[in-house]
Amino acid sequence: MTHTKTQQKVSRREFLGWMWGASLVGLFGQTAVGLFQFFKPRTEAGAFGGQIVAGAPDEFKPGTVSHIRQGRFFISRLEDGGVLALWQRCTHLGCTVPWREDEGQFHCPCHSSLFNVKGEVTGGPAPRPLDIFPVSLKDGKLVVDTSHPTTREKFEASQAFYLK
Ligand code: FES
Repeated sequence: MTHTKTQQKVSRREFLGWMWGASLVGLFGQTAVGLFQFFKPRTEAGAFGGQIVAGAPDEFKPGTVSHIRQGRFFISRLEDGGVLALWQRCTHLGCTVPWREDEGQFHCPCHSSLFNVKGEVTGGPAPRPLDIFPVSLKDGKLVVDTSHPTTREKFEASQAFYLK
């Protein structure tokens, strides 16, 4: 009889311990999922951080700069037809840099950094050219991958995307 009681106590204790362990595992699991959801990068199609369809190449005439607002970048179509996707973020302290059609350049409103159509610094405190995003052609449209900004020290022809 005594033996049975001891056995019962032990198994009850074991059961409670087991339940305690299981609830801890559940709690940590839920916390881990919540943290992952919070920190995972936003990569939905069509939103900044993902793939953005900028438009058909014909929509961007050589020598023009077009703002793609939802992607936070500019399509700069160079005179030779090359395409650059320039991030609108100033490389000085991160302000949004507008393209000034009247000046023919990017002009940061914060501390007056200036950038040309290739994103190169032509004045002000910015330490390097505007960052660029990879460009590709999918289903006849220019697609910009805003999940991978590339920093650069200077413009090189290989940075531009060319239609074959
Ligand atoms: S943030 Fe653009 S010049 Fe300072």
